[in-house]
Amino acid sequence: MGKIRAAITGVGAYLPEYRLTNEELSRMVDTTDEWIMERIGIKERRILKEKDKGSAFLGAKAVDELLQKTNTSPEQVDVLICATVTPDMQFPATANLISDMVGIKNAFSFDLGAGCSGFLYALETGSRFIEAGDYKKVVIVGAEKMSTIVDYTDRAVCPIFGDGAGAVMLEPTTGEYGILDSILRTDGSGHVYLHQKAGGSLKPASHETVDAREHYVYQEGRTVFKYAVANMADISVEIMQRNHLAPTDLTWFLPHQANMRIIQATANRMGISREQVMINIEKYGNTTAATLPLLLWEWEDQLNKGDNLILATFGAGFTWGAMYLKWGYNANGR
Ligand code: UT7
Repeated sequence: MGKIRAAITGVGAYLPEYRLTNEELSRMVDTTDEWIMERIGIKERRILKEKDKGSAFLGAKAVDELLQKTNTSPEQVDVLICATVTPDMQFPATANLISDMVGIKNAFSFDLGAGCSGFLYALETGSRFIEAGDYKKVVIVGAEKMSTIVDYTDRAVCPIFGDGAGAVMLEPTTGEYGILDSILRTDGSGHVYLHQKAGGSLKPASHETVDAREHYVYQEGRTVFKYAVANMADISVEIMQRNHLAPTDLTWFLPHQANMRIIQATANRMGISREQVMINIEKYGNTTAATLPLLLWEWEDQLNKGDNLILATFGAGFTWGAMYLKWGYNANGR
């Protein structure tokens, strides 16, 4: 029998309806549609307006769709991992809340925090559960209500982020497809340039931290940009070389959607064409851990069994990584 690999067997997602446009943003801060389109490449982002709903609501909607599309009952799920930087609460895990909302009862679930790389880290973690042979259905979720940690008076940050959630099912296969290789990296010294100053054990919430607006994303954009371009491009090229993939062997490249210029620079370094790159930044912005599953969800109908995909990401931590997988199904022939 061949080696057991983990394969993605379905994708679900959820996007809130409200569209925060550049035009609306330009009435909130000193910015313009031209600046945002030229420097970032985002036209609008989705926002979950309901104040009584958090990331777990978004994640549960995505998992509901995933279970329905893959014809899976909640009782069949063995593990659920949720990647998020906007958990509903400090504890318990948002993954636990999602499991409860969708009726997953025979599983264990936990959160994983790796910034924008959270989904890729969770995919790697879940794939190892599958490869070990003990678990048959592992759900990986990326769910973010970024609008709760974005300062809508900070023009350098507020255009970037949006809300959303995506989820995939991982199952074992001995076929020639599934997750074939991954390279993940962390450099904690990068935390200085991208973090949330207060609300953790180092600096608990207080009147002072609220007054100082320290519960929002703090980002030194130019420095993060430099590291994002260098690391995402390097690791994407490294995974191509390690797997002897020429640019023409690649069917699709799925880059994290933080900035159109980062995406273009990475694709150029890989030597691939625009037609090979999945891009939806214009519609959703950067949805942090939800970004990669949202790409898979949007392109699912165009994916064919055997397609070569590389997923790549860079985010807070710093965390970054790349994964090579062969797609395992044709959505229309399911
Ligand atoms: O997903 C997590 C990882 N995060 C990222 O990958 C984000 C990486 N960084 C970036 O994408 C970019 O650095 C930003 C989009 C955040 C900023 O773009 P930039 O081209 O690096 O701009 P900058 O920070 O160098 O600022 C250039 C100018 C500044 O004005 P001065 O000092 O030159 O007068 C800013 O104040 O642009 C100004 N600026 C704006 N102007 C209009 C910053 N934000 C805005 C804005 N509208 N929204």
